[in-house]
Amino acid sequence: MTDTTNTIKHVASALARQTLQDRDLTRPVAGRKPIRLLPWLQVVKIGGRSIMDRGAEAILPIVEEIRKVLPEHRLLILTGAGIRARHLYGVGLDLGLPVGSLAPLAASEAGQNGHMLAALLASEGVSYVEHPTMNSQLAIHLSATRAVVGSAFPPYHHHEFPNSRIPHHRADTGAFLLADALGAAGLTIVEDVEGVYTTDPNGPDGAQAQLIRDTSFSELAKHEGTLPFDRALIEVMATARHIERVQVVNGLVPGRLTAALRGEHVGTIVRTGASPT
Ligand SMILES: Nc1ncnc2c1ncn2[C@@H]1O[C@H](COP(=O)(O)OP(=O)(O)O)[C@@H](O)[C@H]1O
Ligand SMILES: [Mg+2]
Repeated sequence: MTDTTNTIKHVASALARQTLQDRDLTRPVAGRKPIRLLPWLQVVKIGGRSIMDRGAEAILPIVEEIRKVLPEHRLLILTGAGIRARHLYGVGLDLGLPVGSLAPLAASEAGQNGHMLAALLASEGVSYVEHPTMNSQLAIHLSATRAVVGSAFPPYHHHEFPNSRIPHHRADTGAFLLADALGAAGLTIVEDVEGVYTTDPNGPDGAQAQLIRDTSFSELAKHEGTLPFDRALIEVMATARHIERVQVVNGLVPGRLTAALRGEHVGTIVRTGASPT
């Protein structure tokens, strides 16, 4: 046996002699807060159905707003899927496709929306980037330009949890996971409503809907009705490490996104499980 093998065999590791299942043993090593990779980054999730599907009328004013805020912020703009993914779910479910086959197909619509948005911002140096680039080359891209666009959908494919036939982890969850993993400064979710209401403001009981200005992931977990974002978002908010709050804003009202990026309270603030220290 060579010396090299010996050294490698005896490399010291705080976790070498214990099971990774025992939290009391792993806490001293794994209990620390992770570093923020991109603490200056603002993540903006643009709704597929609420914004992109409305076409020029909704998209062009947002593009103009993003153009104007570029000198103030460095942005990761993530787009969701809308009506085309819903059509796809309909056809795919009719054909009996498993959830792991539907997830990447729906994600491709989020990507299409991103490509369209990026094209409109190309003259500002903004490009669409794929997941591998977001995973490992975001820093270099954002050193060269103020913003990039990507798909908000997480790339689960056949790793998508089979607990429902429609992918459980969609664009809001993907945007949050990415923002939290990167230790971003904030996440703003752009919708076509003022924020989160007690009930769908466009639903049958819309007249009774009241805007909830400030709430938390734990309060929303008890909310039985529909929400303007994925339910899985509430689950991932519970174990957030960096992102302490998310703001849901109305992208159809000019200036709301700008105000939210400046830290103003203009929609619904949802507090996560992340602690400030
Ligand atoms: N509790 C709620 N508060 C606000 N909006 C809600 C709520 N429940 C349902 N909605 C609806 O969600 C819509 C947004 O749809 P959504 O599927 O989130 O779009 P997107 O694909 O753009 O994220 C809003 O226009 C609103 O009608
Ligand atoms: Mg939504």
